[in-house]
Amino acid sequence: LKKLVIAIDGPAASGKSTTARLLAKRLGYLYVDTGAMYRAMTLKVLQQKIPLDQTDQISELARKTEIRLRQDNDDLKVFLDNQDVTGAIRSPAVTRSVSAVSMIPVVREVMVREQQQMGKEGGIVVEGRDIGTVVFPGAQVKIFMDARVEERARRRQQELKTQQVDVTLDELVIEIQERDRKDTHRTVSPLRRADDAVVLDTSQLTIAQQVEAIYQEVQKLMVKG
Ligand code: DC
Repeated sequence: LKKLVIAIDGPAASGKSTTARLLAKRLGYLYVDTGAMYRAMTLKVLQQKIPLDQTDQISELARKTEIRLRQDNDDLKVFLDNQDVTGAIRSPAVTRSVSAVSMIPVVREVMVREQQQMGKEGGIVVEGRDIGTVVFPGAQVKIFMDARVEERARRRQQELKTQQVDVTLDELVIEIQERDRKDTHRTVSPLRRADDAVVLDTSQLTIAQQVEAIYQEVQKLMVKG
């Protein structure tokens, strides 16, 4: 069987991570959460107390930062300079600052190079904002996942509840819209559907149905050879 590159893009909380992780498991592929890499970089900027507008300083920091993703049974662990930051990168402070850090061209250059390295043999499900457009424009399968913002907020609320974090739906709608606005309107690699991406609106789908829908796309290609 061919080892494909599967690119999944979409706005915040559209269900990309869960879907990509389960799909990778089903295919025996590597799962890469690129948002986790931008989050880890953001955590380091916050730890070093560098103001978010200090582009040069952040760029320099990005060049000497090592971010690694490691599969650990069903979980994906994130390491920042060999420290496990899997939990820390989901904090509200990181979520608030990550769009600013990921706007910086050098930060993107460093992350994109690393992502391309991980995918050069194929056999990978990569999820983010610019995967089908910039990181792997030649990916054999491109999916653009989307869902109504109210539904995305509801899902994010459920997820936060499992971490004992209580946030109102209204707050989450605003936060998600704000992040989408920044991710869509930045000059470098904005969130955009690749022309050849298949749109998957997940507003009415269960996770199992989302995985199945992409799996079917993959099967079509496998059959064609
Ligand atoms: O997928 P996520 O919500 O964990 O991503 C966090 C942020 O990282 C997102 O708001 C924008 C940025 N990001 C990016 O710029 N490019 C990617 N390929 C993935 C994420």
